[in-house]
Amino acid sequence: MRLKNKISVITGAANGMGAAEANLFAQQGSHVIICDILDDDGTNVANQINESNYSAEYYHLDVSQEDQWQNLKHHIMDKFGRLDILVNNAGLSGTSGDLTSTDYYDELNEINAKSVYLGMKTAISIMENQNGGSIVNISSMAALVGVDYVHLGYTGSKGAVRMMTKAAAVQYADKSIRINSVHPGMMPPMATAKRLINDPKFFDSVIKTVPMERVGKVEEVANAVLFLASDEASYITGIELPVDGGSTAK
Ligand SMILES: NC(=O)c1ccc[n+]([C@@H]2O[C@H](COP(=O)([O-])OP(=O)(O)OC[C@H]3O[C@@H](n4cnc5c(N)ncnc54)[C@H](O)[C@@H]3O)[C@@H](O)[C@H]2O)c1
Repeated sequence: MRLKNKISVITGAANGMGAAEANLFAQQGSHVIICDILDDDGTNVANQINESNYSAEYYHLDVSQEDQWQNLKHHIMDKFGRLDILVNNAGLSGTSGDLTSTDYYDELNEINAKSVYLGMKTAISIMENQNGGSIVNISSMAALVGVDYVHLGYTGSKGAVRMMTKAAAVQYADKSIRINSVHPGMMPPMATAKRLINDPKFFDSVIKTVPMERVGKVEEVANAVLFLASDEASYITGIELPVDGGSTAK
């Protein structure tokens, strides 16, 4: 078991990649706190995990609200006294509304970027007082290359996730908190990607830009997130590299 006895929070885990990560983390021995605003879907994911004799619970969290992150922190500290892993996964698609709307720009930044800041702030305030932890932020390929057909607020918000991740990783490495971002390519359409879901021509035109000409599987991303969350990805300050062929880590 790669996450034995770890306490994990995964946001946006009622559906899609977050749900796949919740299932995989639970199978690997973690207790998973499934956070979302879709209470029925999130409760179903938690129930299915518990029915399989793994361990999960659902917790209502709107990731854009700082007071709700504070409530989650109190819940975690009262119940477990620590947090080992946070996956900031919740997000909105940038393909569902008016691609020139400023209100949509603001919404994308609240849900996709500010949420990651709030999540890191909350998790770090716990992890810096224990023996570290791991944070994985779900960004997008849209933070790495220019993409067509999507609101600039989406690409900007995912770019912000990328750079906040890098800066936070530098700032908290000395507390043994590892912080990484993951950049999925084209995955099963997000629930909020209405144009992708409803317009087959649009979908076909986008898939042609993917070298493998297929959509990724949620499990493919979940496995990458699992590695980064686990102790296998433990390259942090304090590890000594071998200089004489001898053994390594302290
Ligand atoms: N699907 C793709 O093609 C793709 C590609 C690259 C990156 N991503 C990113 O991966 C992440 C997961 O995407 P997905 O495809 O699984 O999407 P999804 O739409 O299937 O799931 C997103 C989840 O986030 C939740 N959510 C939305 N707003 C929230 C809020 N304010 N508070 C809490 N939860 C909220 C939704 O209820 C939903 O359960 C997102 O950050 C997305 O931007 C997706």
